[in-house]
Amino acid sequence: MGEVRVARLDELPAGQLTRVDVNDVRVVLARVGDTVYACGDTCAHQGGPLSQGRLSGTRLACPWHGWMYDVRTGQCLMPARNARVPSYPVRVDAGEVWITVGG
Ligand code: FES
Repeated sequence: MGEVRVARLDELPAGQLTRVDVNDVRVVLARVGDTVYACGDTCAHQGGPLSQGRLSGTRLACPWHGWMYDVRTGQCLMPARNARVPSYPVRVDAGEVWITVGG
């Protein structure tokens, strides 16, 4: 699928989550300071929409049952839960945010 432009950096409020769809892939963008991270939007537990969760630093809490993820890696932070959501490379160039979904 390659690299896709998904937003302007100034459209993404710092400390907040934004849902974007890249073709049929649901992605949550998390802006932490001036850095943007991109992960799959579907929680590994029961499919909750992570973009409706709560971001605290680089930790994202699912709105349904509170599983926590590190938005830098997609890794689930719950003890004894070796789960993760996909993490996508992000590039910001001239104020435009690009992500790479798929190969
Ligand atoms: S669906 Fe996300 S914690 Fe249960």
